[in-house]
Amino acid sequence: MQANSRSITTNQHGPHDELPRRVARSLSHPLRKPIAEHTRRAFDHADAWLQRQRGPLILDAGCGVGLSTRRLALDHPEHAVIGIDRSADRLSRDHGEPPPNALLIRADLVDFWRLALMAGWQPRRHYLLYPNPYPKAAHLKMRWHGHPVFPAIVALGGRLEVRSNWRLYLEEFAQAVTQATGQRAELSEHHPGQVCLTPFEAKYLASGQSLWRLVVDLRFQPSLMPRGDDPR
Ligand SMILES: C[S@@+](CC[C@H](N)C(=O)[O-])C[C@H]1O[C@@H](n2cnc3c(N)ncnc32)[C@H](O)[C@@H]1O
Repeated sequence: MQANSRSITTNQHGPHDELPRRVARSLSHPLRKPIAEHTRRAFDHADAWLQRQRGPLILDAGCGVGLSTRRLALDHPEHAVIGIDRSADRLSRDHGEPPPNALLIRADLVDFWRLALMAGWQPRRHYLLYPNPYPKAAHLKMRWHGHPVFPAIVALGGRLEVRSNWRLYLEEFAQAVTQATGQRAELSEHHPGQVCLTPFEAKYLASGQSLWRLVVDLRFQPSLMPRGDDPR
């Protein structure tokens, strides 16, 4: 595959100075954004589907066109795999019927993660594959570890795996995980095997970029997410 994806350019020289303050704020201030009605409906649909499945849950957060959701479902036939993305356009690309143990859902993760936590979901594995990097320093709060929903991501527990072509994103994510949970996340270079898990992974690899992977085994810890009035 020929690809010409530009590598990340950023005005940051190391982890963002503001990160500890932002994470501390997310851990202490409730996220008051109301849950959007369409995501609540999407979550209810996913929850009903999940009740009918046997086996542990795998979340594929920001699944794009859903190829990773399909591949994870085939690789883990005894698991129920839910891929979530807000882009109707990406989710509608025709990559064939997902396997019976996979479900693709259109929803905003900021709301979906909070609903999953409130419902007591405990994914066995949780993937965040090539999240939008937002490399400008001014955009820290748009990176998942700088976003107020970050405590919900770690509170869900399970084996969390984040992949990126920007090592600094994962260094910051690891720093935020340690601040929130006291746990150390493992960061390593990622060398995909024969088959890339996602289209972004394939594109970056074909462009000669290095890929990075963060893994941490987390406990289910709903108290990490500060509660305000129930946003439901
Ligand atoms: C860079 S793409 C990666 C897609 C896929 N994981 C891959 O590696 O090919 C990031 C994806 O995250 C999705 N995304 C970003 N913010 C989101 C949000 N708040 N809720 C749901 N999806 C979101 C985007 O729509 C996009 O599909």
